[in-house]
Amino acid sequence: MPSKSLNIGMIGYGFMGRAHSNAYNRVHNFFDLEYQPVLKAACARSETEVQAFADQWGYDSIETDWRRLIERDDIDAIDICVPNNLHREIAIAAAEQGKMILCEKPLAMNSEEGEEMCQAVEKAGVANTVWYNYRRVPAVTLAKRLIEEGRLGKIFHYRANFLQDWTIAEDLPQGGAALWRLDVAAAGSGVTGDLLAHCIDTAVWLNGSVKDVNAMTETFVKQRQHTLTGKVEPVGIDDACAFLCHFDNGSLGLFESTRYARGHKALYTWEINGENASIKWDLHDLHRLEWFDHGDEGKLRGWRSIHVTDHGGDHPYMDHWWVPGLQIGYEHSFVHQVADFLQSLATGQPCSPTFRDALETQKVCDAVLNSAKNGSWQAVG
Ligand SMILES: NC(=O)c1ccc[n+]([C@@H]2O[C@H](COP(=O)([O-])OP(=O)(O)OC[C@H]3O[C@@H](n4cnc5c(N)ncnc54)[C@H](O)[C@@H]3O)[C@@H](O)[C@H]2O)c1
Repeated sequence: MPSKSLNIGMIGYGFMGRAHSNAYNRVHNFFDLEYQPVLKAACARSETEVQAFADQWGYDSIETDWRRLIERDDIDAIDICVPNNLHREIAIAAAEQGKMILCEKPLAMNSEEGEEMCQAVEKAGVANTVWYNYRRVPAVTLAKRLIEEGRLGKIFHYRANFLQDWTIAEDLPQGGAALWRLDVAAAGSGVTGDLLAHCIDTAVWLNGSVKDVNAMTETFVKQRQHTLTGKVEPVGIDDACAFLCHFDNGSLGLFESTRYARGHKALYTWEINGENASIKWDLHDLHRLEWFDHGDEGKLRGWRSIHVTDHGGDHPYMDHWWVPGLQIGYEHSFVHQVADFLQSLATGQPCSPTFRDALETQKVCDAVLNSAKNGSWQAVG
């Protein structure tokens, strides 16, 4: 039974506000932890909207100004679920108030901002984590274990894609609610910070640091009406990005992301080729890990599809859910991150990725965007 409460102050009620609230509400039903999240207050600018959100998800109270929220004595942790241009200011102010921070990805608009945020949480000594939730899909966590056991041998290749198709229409506006991702002032970048950041975080976690990158980006639709100004304005984000890289371990990386891959909604895939084995994963089939082991007997050698649902500690996190063979989904990766964050408070260990861990991804994103601009290889800062 939990003996300690962790009072959450949630900022933002959109996609991630819902995903995180669901995770806070469910975690104690499935994980036996010392700390229990309490949905203390939700914050957004519109009182009506945030009250409706608070009622639906069970928050005790609301705020319409995030500054007021972080000043409240009854809030222990601030959860930042707002567009990227607000992460820095809220995180630094929250750290100064001594609040723990769970911040959505990407950490910041760029690595200079990210560094300031790291320094703020480190100076304040507050617990912090960034929601790179794909690390906590059981199949991805299992891949991490297999790699750490050395089963792949020397790694030669890492390749990842994140493909969508929702911005092809030229009359889709930019800016404002839901469309802030197309507005460079709110998002910082396009697919690089939004989608490739996930691919890079997973890659760095599984395969180590990236040394240098060579990238190209494209903005297919050059101007769009801005919903806030009503004017047709230039589009400053990258609609598509592809890059090559060298990892510190000598392997070669190939990454691609676009919102113009007709037919693909959220096709996040990665594959790693090692000397002894290869391994691959697909978000559309997220409970499976594909595994090829060259050490298998010749006549049986081939790709095997592991249904990552077993108990007994074989498959990460799965002992907490249903019976072996029954799969879980996307939202559970957030429940796992909450569980790991709460566990980290009990043990005093950091909950990865911390702000400092996530800064590494931010630096790769910066190098990718600089390389695309300069047309040259770019070292990761
Ligand atoms: N981990 C993931 O897989 C994942 C997925 C989607 C989004 N994200 C990240 O989560 C963050 C939010 O994205 P989203 O998809 O939830 O966006 P969204 O547009 O669905 O929601 C944004 C929320 O921010 C609120 N907001 C905007 N300005 C505000 C302000 N000044 N004060 C208070 N609230 C304000 C809006 O009212 C809205 O509730 C972004 O940083 C995004 O990159 C991460």
